[in-house]
Amino acid sequence: MNEDFLHKKLNERKQQNAYRELRLPTNKIDFCSNDYLGIARSSTIDDRPSTILRAGSTGSRLLAGNYALIEETETMIAKFHEAESGLIFNSGYDANVGLMSCVPQRGDTIIYDYLSHASIRDGIRLSFAESFSFVHNRLDDLEKRLKIAKGNIFVVTESVFSMDGDYAPLNDISALCEKYNANLIIDEAHATGVVGEKGEGLVQHLQLQNKCFARVYTFGKGVGCHGAVILGSKTLRNYLINFSRAFIYTTSLPESSVAAIQSAYQIFPQMNEERNHLNNLIVQFQNASIGFEKLKSETPIQIVIVPGNDAVKKLAMQLQENNFDIRPIVYPTVPKGSERLRIVMHAFNTREEVRGLVEGLRVGSR
Ligand SMILES: Cc1ncc(COP(=O)(O)O)c(C=O)c1O
Repeated sequence: MNEDFLHKKLNERKQQNAYRELRLPTNKIDFCSNDYLGIARSSTIDDRPSTILRAGSTGSRLLAGNYALIEETETMIAKFHEAESGLIFNSGYDANVGLMSCVPQRGDTIIYDYLSHASIRDGIRLSFAESFSFVHNRLDDLEKRLKIAKGNIFVVTESVFSMDGDYAPLNDISALCEKYNANLIIDEAHATGVVGEKGEGLVQHLQLQNKCFARVYTFGKGVGCHGAVILGSKTLRNYLINFSRAFIYTTSLPESSVAAIQSAYQIFPQMNEERNHLNNLIVQFQNASIGFEKLKSETPIQIVIVPGNDAVKKLAMQLQENNFDIRPIVYPTVPKGSERLRIVMHAFNTREEVRGLVEGLRVGSR
């Protein structure tokens, strides 16, 4: 078999020192996972015996794969997030692809933040609508695009950005959407469980839930499980059931997964102590001087800029040798010159661990 064309592309990656490899977990101090509250590592998430929960759902939701627990969970989550209805998808990736690919139609316009997650961008690529990005978090650029947009207009952004850890200016974005009669879509993946008094996310924290056309909440990060939900009107739910290919043409999540999601939604709203501790760690890290540029972030995602794939990989390796699980984010995932360590704070990390990490970074900067 001639696989030269694959080798050629893989070799390019190796030359850029950007070759990716899978790694098995280690027992190092976790500054890497998205398990912000530690729910995924706790054993309290579901105490029902697994034998009564089916591990396979046996089909698409439209065929054999629908069941009472999944609909009950959708209703419960929609109520918690103050939405009319919800539809569960197998992952956040599927939810964004399933939403963006089918809702905006030919003749419509999608305007998305330049730093939007790959799943949003991939969904947009599958859509027949026209699409434009706006400069990250820049309202003037967004407005420029809104002024010339045609058809139904959709504005898409994340509430907490996965690679920068900053917030989107949602109040202002929502006001612009009202002014230009645009439909606002917000991905709350990294805000779920973490932002807001009960971990309800940034949208409700700012009381914008009634201003959104659709919201995506993922369960694989702060919720500590797997899957996602799209929240919106009943009409939107019916539309997705009829037209969203990422919903229709796949086997649904099994009962065991959905039971875990339901349990997590009963647990995380009460985890105020964990959220407080997490916020204290974030402040501790933000206030520390580390010898590298640090992006401003009030969220668990803390970014240390170390330009160059070689340099950022070397520093990550040094930290790993000192027992910190920290991964480099290299070009082409981020633009050249903005390679970074993506450090994730968790409720189970300690102040001493953060102190040790700061010291490790200081040593690495010398
Ligand atoms: C902003 C954002 N949206 C969606 C996703 C995808 O979610 P999932 O991991 O559940 O597929 C991610 C995950 O990396 C993300 O960061």
